[in-house]
Amino acid sequence: MIKIAVLGYGTVGSGVVEVIQTNHRSINIKAADEIEIKYVLDLRDFPGDPVQEKVVHDFDVIEADPEIRIVVETMGGLHPAYEFTKRALLAGKSVCTSNKELVAAYGTELLQIARDRELNYMFEASCGGGIPIIRPLNSSLTADEIDEITGILNGTTNYILTKMAVDGSDFDEALREAQQNGYAERNPEADIEGYDACRKIAILSSLAYGSHVSYQDIYTEGITKITSADIKYAQTIGASIKLLATSRKVGDEFYAMVSPVMINASNPLYSVQGVFNAIFIHGNVLGDAMFYGSGAGKLPTASAVVADVVDCAKHLDRNVRFEWSDQQLELMPVGRVRNRFFVRVAGTMAAEMQKIRSIFGEVETVSVPGLSGEFAFITEKMPESEFQDGISQLDGVRSTIRVRF
Ligand code: HSE
Repeated sequence: MIKIAVLGYGTVGSGVVEVIQTNHRSINIKAADEIEIKYVLDLRDFPGDPVQEKVVHDFDVIEADPEIRIVVETMGGLHPAYEFTKRALLAGKSVCTSNKELVAAYGTELLQIARDRELNYMFEASCGGGIPIIRPLNSSLTADEIDEITGILNGTTNYILTKMAVDGSDFDEALREAQQNGYAERNPEADIEGYDACRKIAILSSLAYGSHVSYQDIYTEGITKITSADIKYAQTIGASIKLLATSRKVGDEFYAMVSPVMINASNPLYSVQGVFNAIFIHGNVLGDAMFYGSGAGKLPTASAVVADVVDCAKHLDRNVRFEWSDQQLELMPVGRVRNRFFVRVAGTMAAEMQKIRSIFGEVETVSVPGLSGEFAFITEKMPESEFQDGISQLDGVRSTIRVRF
């Protein structure tokens, strides 16, 4: 029997307990042993809940118990999750987590501790919810040199953007629904400002490129400025607006960026709707691959955590190696990244186009029937810094969104 402890009985932690209860037979067969939850650590008590007898309030109990071989960290946040994870590893226990914030910030250190002790630190649930992506990157795509990862990595923002586009919902109403469904972070700023997607693309890029990508180095823009007018323009040109997290190799350099982007039906991410996530990968020999599925929520995320528990159970005294060195991957300055841009401006084409063409050269124009007193244009590909210079010379700019087609 393998005894485990679950740290944090919130959305994901209670999901882990539920998954282990629901599928205990098949999980035990796959783990080739019986997995039993011995402790649940939380500040609260849960009278009447099936775990009420297992609840402890002091991590020392778990740390000191030699029967505990695997710790599931579903607390979220950096502290005390970092301290508990480190103490668990140093006490000889493998750790499985859904905590992307912690993995992005301390992943290299925690992986090293696990490696030194023939233990495991696993984090499949940290990116893409229930979608298998960490394990495929680590073990299936090893013949390739990955040169692009582009993902819809945040379920909450994709849910909001889909609701705004399909149902005409307003932003706050859609966010409230995402929170009620258990998709959003405790502080939803992390979702809507793009910080969550930023941490996830940092983790995926570190694994794909083998060197540490600091999330602090990634240019990040959220969806709070997207309006229903922007969505109408996108629909007029057959596009949708998605929060894309991208990292790409350009020549010998890499860049990474999180921002809303207009994409059209030629992009495989175009039809990813609602809380679903998808991760597009390009490998130099594989070509294109895409991973798609439930990107957030209690059970999908718990499914990935429990799969890690099974993997840890199968490798109790052997480290499964992750190629993620602590050597820093220097990212290209964002000003040199080349993109196309959609720009909405106040005024009429007759009055403004001469100036716009003098700044940006040839552009495509767009207008939406019913939206008067404004129009939009789309630039050719240009460096971000050149675009910013150009836009600063223009009056009446209402919004700018990157375009990828
Ligand atoms: N808040 C996150 C999301 C949860 O919406 O994608 C899953 O990491």
